[in-house]
Amino acid sequence: MDKKIFSGVQPTGNLHLGNYLGAIKNFVDLNNNKNNECIFCVVDLHAITVRQDPKQLRNNIRETVATFIASGIDPKKSIIFNQSSVSAHAEGAWILSCVARMGWLNRMTQFKEKAGKDKEKASIGLYSYPVLMASDILLYDATHVPVGDDQKQHLELCRDIAQKFNNDFEVENFLKVPEPLIQKEFSRIMSLKDGSKKMSKSELSDLSRINLTDEKDQIINKIKKAKTDPLPMPQNINELEDRLEAKNLLGIYSSLTNSSLKNSVEIFAGKNFSEFKEKLSDQLVNKIDPISKEIKKLLRDKSYLDKILLDGVEKADLIASKKIERIKEIVGF
Ligand code: AMP
Ligand code: TRP
Repeated sequence: MDKKIFSGVQPTGNLHLGNYLGAIKNFVDLNNNKNNECIFCVVDLHAITVRQDPKQLRNNIRETVATFIASGIDPKKSIIFNQSSVSAHAEGAWILSCVARMGWLNRMTQFKEKAGKDKEKASIGLYSYPVLMASDILLYDATHVPVGDDQKQHLELCRDIAQKFNNDFEVENFLKVPEPLIQKEFSRIMSLKDGSKKMSKSELSDLSRINLTDEKDQIINKIKKAKTDPLPMPQNINELEDRLEAKNLLGIYSSLTNSSLKNSVEIFAGKNFSEFKEKLSDQLVNKIDPISKEIKKLLRDKSYLDKILLDGVEKADLIASKKIERIKEIVGF
């Protein structure tokens, strides 16, 4: 086996183009390489760090599985499972939370962003979230973790936790220190309404993102309404520095066409945004519309999706329960 891949996506609904281009597209490529062993986890324990409606959460878990499959992950080849069904994740998180230091967690920018001004009211789970993420990864001896740019800091923390555990208990190389797999370009897709903000599930305006369940007309409409600036399309790549919306849209176009940003800038240099937007919509519709249709089709067959999770849980549990037993022995239980 070349690489052991582990990654997770929260079942919080509204999976969008940022999730797709930043993470899921990469999952599919990794899944298609026969030398890789891939595990993709629907991280429902992470989801409840902010309040979720139980009924909706159940649906969102299935929808995340459907999105994985509709995007091209083959459940026969990769393990797809949900986190809460494998108890080692929560157990590991507790033990690792006794290894991780407050000072390390205090630096996490995602917590600061998500907790907002009133940190006193944030859940403890939201704070210790990255420790659970470390448990996810380390239980499977993952060598590589594909994520979007926003998760880089959490991965560094995971590496620190693994190293401290190995040092503290004198078990060299027992917890494997994983490598992040973050795409060099376009690893952070921005809001269609504000080029300085990340495209996000939680943003109120639906016009700020392309959801993976959007239909053709919605996609075309959202791109039409996407924010731009009054100038013609940029002449060269240096112009993009302070034209965030143009940079983001050109980045999306480049990622979808597997070309470089420089190349895309050259194609549209000096043209009107409307002409570029038409081409961008075509690419998006080609990519997203079939995924959207497939998600909806899969969601009609709940028992199929549940079966995939059950199979995945069985396989994941076999790996994770062995590792957690060793961890318990090492700490002296
Ligand atoms: P989440 O939905 O927060 O669980 O994120 C799932 C994956 O999508 C993670 O690897 C994130 O880094 C990635 N992701 C989320 N939002 C974006 C974005 N706007 N641009 C790029 N990647 C993203
Ligand atoms: N924190 C990640 C996110 O919000 C999701 C996640 C949880 C994850 N556990 C993981 C990603 C393990 C990679 C590996 O995007």
